[in-house]
Amino acid sequence: MAQLRRGALVIEQPSDSRNLRAILREATAHTHDQLDEAMRAATGWTTTAHYAAFLSLQHAARRPVEDWLDAHAPEGLCPPPQSPLIATDLAALRVELPAKASNFELNIAGPHAKASILGVAWVLAGSSLGNRAILHELRRNGHEDWPSAFLGDDAMLAFWNAMRPGIEAPTSAEAANAATEAAQATFAHFIAVAKPPSGTNPDQDSDVPTCDPETPPILDDAATDDTLIPSEDSESRQAGATPKTTKEPV
Ligand code: HEM
Repeated sequence: MAQLRRGALVIEQPSDSRNLRAILREATAHTHDQLDEAMRAATGWTTTAHYAAFLSLQHAARRPVEDWLDAHAPEGLCPPPQSPLIATDLAALRVELPAKASNFELNIAGPHAKASILGVAWVLAGSSLGNRAILHELRRNGHEDWPSAFLGDDAMLAFWNAMRPGIEAPTSAEAANAATEAAQATFAHFIAVAKPPSGTNPDQDSDVPTCDPETPPILDDAATDDTLIPSEDSESRQAGATPKTTKEPV
């Protein structure tokens, strides 16, 4: 229950009855579609060259967000870094690491900082659903021999499943707004990388974020912002049963 102060009055505001995940999916549906289109236009999955372009773009965009989470996310809200897996796939394709994209910046000052961090983590972790869809598409098209450490990353899927109870719960409007703004900023960062201005600045920085992929998400940590505490009657979805978009992923 959130509180709204009007003069001397303190008005109790009901939490948003929809769960945070539903709010995030609805708020970012259009932005996700834009990113999907931008990535398809810039890459694709029909040839190994296209696939390498897809992985390069993912590496360039993901790495700065992973660095940001490494610096800001509390234990349990830091998804396992995937840029090393992408680098492994690119090496198998004999393609050099791409230029590092510009840093990812996000102001998280304020009482809902953890909700903001959760919004960023949701974007990276939720993308594992799309990755699985892309992987199935590759296999359907006879490309099971293509390197897939990134698309088939079980650690991210495990993180995703562990974070679901925390996001599939009603939340306050304020926390939902903070998480949504952060998620939008993260999608915008990816779109900017997918549609770069001409000219890039190669930087093959090899330091990997120290975020521990073995550390299981600790939802109570996120829930110290009590607007993120799952309620008992929260909707609990089945894995994979609620696609963000119904269109064919590839
Ligand atoms: C061309 C590239 C992409 C495709 C084809 C794609 C496709 C999908 C698919 C199929 C889903 C799940 C089921 C559905 O919504 O139908 C999904 C969910 C999602 N994707 Fe993507 N995606 C792409 C790129 C990305 C990227 C780069 C990100 C993050 C930076 C991302 C973030 C998400 C998130 C946050 C969800 C929702 C998770 C949830 O259900 O709560 N996607 N995407």
